[in-house]
Amino acid sequence: MQTISRLDTLRHAVTLLKSGGKTLALVPTMGALHEGHLTLVRTARRHADAVAVSIFVNPRQFGPNEDFDAYPRRLEADAALLAAEGVDIVWAPPPAEVYPAGFATSVSVSGLDAVLCGAARPGHFDGVATVVTKLFNQVQPDVALFGEKDWQQLTIIRRMARDLDLTSPRADAILGVPTVREADGLAMSSRNQYLTPEERAAAVALPRAIAAAVTALKGGTPAAQAMADLSAALLAGGFSRVDYAELRDATTLDLLDAPGAAPARVLVAAHIGKARLIDNAPVI
Ligand code: PAF
Repeated sequence: MQTISRLDTLRHAVTLLKSGGKTLALVPTMGALHEGHLTLVRTARRHADAVAVSIFVNPRQFGPNEDFDAYPRRLEADAALLAAEGVDIVWAPPPAEVYPAGFATSVSVSGLDAVLCGAARPGHFDGVATVVTKLFNQVQPDVALFGEKDWQQLTIIRRMARDLDLTSPRADAILGVPTVREADGLAMSSRNQYLTPEERAAAVALPRAIAAAVTALKGGTPAAQAMADLSAALLAGGFSRVDYAELRDATTLDLLDAPGAAPARVLVAAHIGKARLIDNAPVI
């Protein structure tokens, strides 16, 4: 496994790999790797000959009062986990290698970025879209994998990749991988480590409330009622604030009153202790 921090070295490694006829999968991450990331890596190995993992805590996707400085960074431990998974390339650039002095470009995916987390975190998805565009251009993957926990991010990246012809025409070019959960159902997230033991125990209210809402929606409860009940369950269960709890079309992210024929998802973001947790589930 090569751990690379300079773009010219990365380009050389990718060229070598591809000239040998290998296909390449990219798993973009911000590090602090957990079982969810390792599942992305294992899935990647089934879709390409070689796997590259990027580790970059992207300053452009954090707001001024968010956790950029506190975000866990542990490159050595992450690299050891990835070596054990047989990863070929770890791309871990310093910020100046990604955003050289005078960097002035931003990628926006209008509309999809205005709702859900985009409404609560202005500019967040511009930062994500910009860095993912750069990662695609740098690594030139045949396939890139993203967790379904960040459903809005996955939807935005799919739209961006299609709009900008960023990836190969393979059907699996942008692959969403189902959320990996702890034994009690809490979605794995690098931000779970901000929780105290009490908050961690209470956080299970999130997947439980989502599951109850999905059952209610399937039973004919209108979305407004199901989402109000979901928010009430979170606040009663120890969450301090609910940013959103909504039923939306899984592809267009249009708000729905009830599930219809097209795939729909319940999406939630809520605060507990120092953590803002997100999760979602399909309704049909
Ligand atoms: O999901 C993440 O970890 C980040 O948003 C990503 C896709 C690596 C871009 O920085």
